[in-house]
Amino acid sequence: MPFRSIGRGTLLAPASLAMLGCAQEAGAPNIITVAWLGTVNSEPPMLSVSIRPGRFSYGIIDRTGEFTVNLVSRELLKAADFCGVRSGRDVDKFASCGLHALPAEGLTLAPCIQESPLYLSCLVRSKLELGSHHMFLAEIVAVGAQERLLDERGRLDLSRAGLMAYSHGEYVPVGGPEGFFGYSVARDEVLQRRMPGIR
Ligand SMILES: Cc1cc2nc3c(=O)[nH]c(=O)nc-3n(C[C@H](O)[C@H](O)[C@H](O)COP(=O)(O)O)c2cc1C
Repeated sequence: MPFRSIGRGTLLAPASLAMLGCAQEAGAPNIITVAWLGTVNSEPPMLSVSIRPGRFSYGIIDRTGEFTVNLVSRELLKAADFCGVRSGRDVDKFASCGLHALPAEGLTLAPCIQESPLYLSCLVRSKLELGSHHMFLAEIVAVGAQERLLDERGRLDLSRAGLMAYSHGEYVPVGGPEGFFGYSVARDEVLQRRMPGIR
């Protein structure tokens, strides 16, 4: 028996790590760090994020129907942790972390975080009350990437972002590529062009 049962839990790892930007008409914009999020649809592009109803950000997102998902680089990690252990009820997280809120494409209220490598503008389409968390299903209406992530032909190179993920209570770096979509069946010339040296 190669496995020992260790109970049940949310051990899908690594999980994405992101900072959601949200804002209501009056008051400072807020940030909540989340790991319970994922891609759920391609056309239209959609993602899910599960938030406990007690969070300050939950009320804001529920009322306004919009938020940004800001990916977390190594440089942003300490701020991401802080925004996951302090509430916007008590602190201005943008000011405390030295972060800057910028208008997000396609949204009216929720800002993106200037210091994040890449953000997704999201509009809530529906909500599922699952239990401890309520899951928002949101359409991604725009994506903004830092110029430095684009190669000379304008293509997104995410390996330049130094992204972080969340794995069983710890933050781990997303390493460099070890393959690409379809590489197991790609022709040799494609392999050599896309990833020289790959086997
Ligand atoms: C790494 C990490 C991941 C988290 N993921 C979630 C999550 O997916 N959903 C959630 O409701 N809270 C999550 N939290 C907790 C919230 O970020 C935290 O309670 C935060 O203080 C809420 O801020 P707010 O009250 O300003 O909304 C996470 C915290 C950390 C540190």
